Order: sequence, then C-alpha cells, then structure tokens
Amino acid sequence: MKILLTGAAGFIGYHTICKLLERGDEVVGLDNVSNYYDPTLKEARLKLLEGREGFTFIRGDILDRATVAKAMNGVDRVIHLAALAGVRYAFEHPDEYIDINIRGFFHIIDEVRKQKVKGLIYASSSSVYGGNEKLPASEADRTDDQISLYGMNKKDNELMAHTYHHLYSIPVTGLRFFTVYGPYGRPDMALFLFTDALLHDRPLSIYGEGKMQRDFTYVDDIVAGILASCDKNYPEELFNLGCGRQEELMEYVRLIEQSCGREARKEYLPMQPGDVRASLADISRAKKMLGYEPKTRIAEGVPKFVEWYRAYYGL
Ligand SMILES: NC(=O)c1ccc[n+]([C@@H]2O[C@H](COP(=O)([O-])OP(=O)(O)OC[C@H]3O[C@@H](n4cnc5c(N)ncnc54)[C@H](O)[C@@H]3O)[C@@H](O)[C@H]2O)c1
Repeated sequence: MKILLTGAAGFIGYHTICKLLERGDEVVGLDNVSNYYDPTLKEARLKLLEGREGFTFIRGDILDRATVAKAMNGVDRVIHLAALAGVRYAFEHPDEYIDINIRGFFHIIDEVRKQKVKGLIYASSSSVYGGNEKLPASEADRTDDQISLYGMNKKDNELMAHTYHHLYSIPVTGLRFFTVYGPYGRPDMALFLFTDALLHDRPLSIYGEGKMQRDFTYVDDIVAGILASCDKNYPEELFNLGCGRQEELMEYVRLIEQSCGREARKEYLPMQPGDVRASLADISRAKKMLGYEPKTRIAEGVPKFVEWYRAYYGL
C-alpha cells in the first residue's frame, strides 16, 4: 500500500513508519517538525528514516490545505497522528490546540473525502473518557464528560469522523491510545521526565501524590494495532489500544530506579488539572476484531527505554 502518515517525525509516527517500511509498504511522511518539544529529537528520528527505500518526507503543515492535498495524492490509506499531544500545554496555548487538533483534523478528513482515499486511521486518546471513572473503560462507555481541552479535541475528531462516515461513507477507524512509552519517546511524558531527572540528580516531580494508576502501552504494541487497523479497514470503528493492565505509578518509578541503578529523590505534588487518577483499557474489542495482543509489560519495556535514553544521550 501507499500510505500518507502525518506526524512522521513524532514518537508513534516514527515507530509506525519503521514497521510499514519493513513489511514493504510505501510511506509519504508529513510533519512540520514543530517545537512543542525538542525538535532535535524529531530530526534524529527523521534521520533514521530518510534514505530508506519506500520513504519520502514532506516538511509541511497540516494547516496548509494545499500541502495536505499534495501529500495525499494517490495514497491508499491515511494514518493521521499529527497533533498537539500534551494535556498540560493546552492550558497556555488553547488557540494552537483548536487550530491543529480540530482544523488540522478537518483538513485531513475533508481531503480524504475529496480524493476518495479508501481509508482513514487516526489517533484518538484515552483522554476522551475524561470524567467517566468507570474502569476498565470500553468503547461503548460515555465520553461526554470532557475535563481537558485535549480530550475535547479528540472527542471532536471522533464526532467529525462519524459525521463524515455517515455523509460520505468514508472508512474511518479511531484509535484511543493509552499512555504510550518506549525508545525515542516524548520528552514531555513521565518516563522521559523521570529518567532525565534521576540521571541528572534532580528530584522527580510526582503528581497525584504518587497515588495514580495507568494503563501503560509499549509503542510496538500500539504500532501492531495501527497496522492491523490499516489492513482491516473497517467501515467505521473505534478501538481502545492499551496494554489492558493497570499499573501503579510508583511501580513505574521503581522500575526506572532499578534500570538506572539508583534511588530517586521524590517530590510529591497534587493532581494537575485535566489529569485523571486512573486509566485502564478494556481491549477485548481490539483483540477480537484486530487480533490485537499486547506483548510488552512495563517490567520489560521500562528498561528498554532507559537503555535507549542512556545510549542516545551518552550517559
Ligand atoms: N503518546 C501517547 O501516549 C499518546 C496517547 C494518546 C494519544 N496520542 C496521540 O497519538 C498521536 C501521536 O502522538 P505522539 O506521542 O507520537 O506525539 P508527537 O508529538 O511525538 O508526534 C506528533 C507529531 O505531529 C507533528 N505536528 C504537530 N503539529 C503539526 C502540524 N500542524 N502539521 C504537521 N505536523 C504537525 C509534530 O511535529 C510531531 O512530530 C497524537 O495524535 C497524540 O495525540 C498519543
């Protein structure tokens, strides 16, 4: 297949492209290499992709409709991952979130309609469950209680996808990712922040007084779910992609300490606005319909991240 992947220089985008190229797909990557976090990490990911057979890269913005149109020309599928992805950054930059996550999404889906692309797979988030505290969260549960601008954006994407499917029969699959981690991971996420602080002898800022639980998903498992969605190309679906296990935040911290071979100084802080205390995905639908089977638990995944981090930063 020929696939347009947006967010190509991003964490999940980079890993997805690696797998698509490995299996012989052709990929057009689109990314504006924004500076929401250190762009040198994005450039490093791109460097590993550039020159590989079947890969072309367009440095451009999804807010530029002409760029989107050009990038989508002749593709069989669109995997849309480009977004502003942090929950907290939205408090200071709400306008950017509305632009990129809502208008940007509209540009993608409306161009899919116009060019009659045969399928759109896009990143949603566990954040859409917002204030709904029922666990494990399943796709049929209520998602109308948004508690962050980011969650609201992703819910909006799901509604737009549903509307476009209804009006134009576009095949759309939304994937609700649950806390993704792994090598080349995002510098604004806990695993990176904690490892970085620990190895630089700074205290770890632990929110929610450490009493939080997360369903942590290793990036290779997420990629397997994305590829399966691309291949199945259901008419209209939403899937939770998590590990299906609820882990204590402090166990995550313990594994980081163990991998780094030292104990952390910890600074316990209250919950941040927009955050949820616990997440857990019901992944039975993805298992049944995508053959999704997460393989990596945190005891194996956290050391892999720390190993990458040390090698990459020469520590
Ligand atoms: N990582 C997670 O835990 C997680 C969880 C839930 C959902 N998601 C979603 O998965 C997707 C990928 O996330 P990620 O962790 O790889 O994030 P990321 O920030 O590493 O990747 C997103 C990429 O999109 C690019 N981008 C941003 N604005 C753009 C624009 N206007 N035009 C073109 N490119 C633009 C960025 O430069 C970046 O490289 C996002 O949609 C995110 O919301 C991620």
